[in-house]
Amino acid sequence: NKVVLAYSGGVDTSVCIPYLKQEWGVKEVITLAADLGQGDELEPIRLKALASGAEVSLVQDVVAEFVRDYAFPAVKANAFYENRYPLSTALARPLIAKILVDAAAEYGADAVAHGCTGKGNDQVRFDVSIAALNPKLKVLAPAREWGMSREETIAYGEKCGIPSPVKKSSPYSIDRNLLGRAIEAGILEDAWQEAPEDVFVMTKAIADTPNEPTYTEIAFEKGIPVGLNGTALDPVALVTQLNAIAGDNGVGRIDMIENRLVGIKSREIYETPAMSVLIEAHRDLESLTLTADLTQYKRNIEETYSRMIYNGLWYSPLKVALDAFIDSSQERVSGTVRIKFFKGTAAIVGRKSVNSLYNEELATYTSADLFDHKAAEGFIYIWGMPTRVWSQTANG
Ligand code: ARG
Ligand code: SIN
Repeated sequence: NKVVLAYSGGVDTSVCIPYLKQEWGVKEVITLAADLGQGDELEPIRLKALASGAEVSLVQDVVAEFVRDYAFPAVKANAFYENRYPLSTALARPLIAKILVDAAAEYGADAVAHGCTGKGNDQVRFDVSIAALNPKLKVLAPAREWGMSREETIAYGEKCGIPSPVKKSSPYSIDRNLLGRAIEAGILEDAWQEAPEDVFVMTKAIADTPNEPTYTEIAFEKGIPVGLNGTALDPVALVTQLNAIAGDNGVGRIDMIENRLVGIKSREIYETPAMSVLIEAHRDLESLTLTADLTQYKRNIEETYSRMIYNGLWYSPLKVALDAFIDSSQERVSGTVRIKFFKGTAAIVGRKSVNSLYNEELATYTSADLFDHKAAEGFIYIWGMPTRVWSQTANG
């Protein structure tokens, strides 16, 4: 009877409002738009929901929480899905689910709704996250059931007095927040076609990047990014500034074929300048401050962790347990990583830490060497024992 709808201001979520009322008999629609740093003006979006028939239209600024509690834990986990995608869209879903569930409680709604289609990952992330937070809430997904094409959706909206998209509707499907943009559809569906320059907004084309390198120092405290170039920054400011620096140098573009949970492969273009650089830098600092066995063990955890985020399992007991492991591993991951941005690359050219395990006196090839070369001989004898025995046996 009363439904809280996740609202973006786009055609699909706008059409969900009259659709819920007319086709499914919902009495009261409360829309909730989340500010995740996507850069949209939220006041017009709030008004558009009311114009589309919502009884109550809410806007909530959650960008600080998004970076602190969703993006930075993913940085600690070096969370690249399929080794490349830093989960910019996927990380927003559990947070949106959370504020939907909270709003449903506050307004006494018996259901929440979202505008995802039945082909994507996002529906899974919303449905599973909502179920984890409040298993009693019903989840409505009109766009999964209505079977309307994009043209039909726009026509339905116009019939209900929803203005069709003012700007010439983009040929792409775009999801955006502070962490990045995910672009699909249109000519991008041809996996052989290079993405045209006009799909990119956060990152410059190489031809337009500066001809001199830009050096940037990223400071970490227990695995969490805390500053740039010697200045302490809050999470949102840090990501915003790093997006600008990396994007200006053409860093952060990803073009990949990815495996969706629903079994299909999709071609995605991403721009995730800050997140890509933060994870690379963080991983480098770990190689300086973690022991070899912890680093190697953590890589397996990271793979699982990334897949879980992608697959909608943010709120799950395994994820919580892995967080405990990851947090424990970050105790000494403090220090600074130096990045050289130039023409689409972000090269790590230096790192330092008070917890550095790198011992120059052990590593050096000069006369300052403290490594006991004699000890290596006995070690290799024992280390190679199984191989020697195997070889002798195999050769009869
Ligand atoms: N495939 C990405 C993910 O599952 C992004 C999907 C976002 N939607 C879009 N319209 N591009 O996280
Ligand atoms: C959607 O269908 O909601 C967008 C694509 C995705 O979720 O992967």
